[in-house]
Amino acid sequence: MILVLAHDCSQTQLDEILSECKSLGWTCEVSRGTEQTIVTLAGSADPAALEERFGKRTDLDLVPILSHREYRYLRTRRRMLAGMAGGLGVLTAMGAGIPVLGFLMPPKGVIPDRDLVRVAAQAEIKEHSGWRVTLLGQPVLLVRLENNRWFALSAICTHMNICHLDWNEERRELVCPCHGGAFDVYGNVVQGPPAVPLESYGVELVGPDVFVRRKA
Ligand code: FES
Repeated sequence: MILVLAHDCSQTQLDEILSECKSLGWTCEVSRGTEQTIVTLAGSADPAALEERFGKRTDLDLVPILSHREYRYLRTRRRMLAGMAGGLGVLTAMGAGIPVLGFLMPPKGVIPDRDLVRVAAQAEIKEHSGWRVTLLGQPVLLVRLENNRWFALSAICTHMNICHLDWNEERRELVCPCHGGAFDVYGNVVQGPPAVPLESYGVELVGPDVFVRRKA
């Protein structure tokens, strides 16, 4: 199990959580990333007691460690539910009398090639830096290297499928704050424990903007 807290959670809050986990029989390892603070719990204590203690708290998420297969199943299911929610939203809006034409227009930021999504202006992103964007609800890291080379990769580490990766400019790698896993800009694993490469997306420059090609 892991606990996911805000990246800027206070040390007092963290100490209180660690002490509760330890009292339940878990050993804890803390990693602070730029987006999250992760507490990885190890041991054979009872997960139900954790659920009871932390399940209703709104300042953290209690997350079971998923296998890659479980993660893909959950992601597909979430996308299907999101699609259903979108369909219901359209029907509700039509019922409320909002002009249908508005719904047929592409949303702002999407150009007629429906698979390309605008994610940033080129000028916003310095060379050698990483930029977080959201694509279909998923966090993606957009990386710009020299000679106007761009890369877009899933920002979720494939080891446990929950920790958000950070761009390390010096190493030119995407690095996981949880257990130090690292990936190159092509998504290949360069340092374990992850064994599965990152999903990558095509990047296209159109005028002053950067577009990412989403997958079907
Ligand atoms: S979650 Fe373990 S290395 Fe990323």
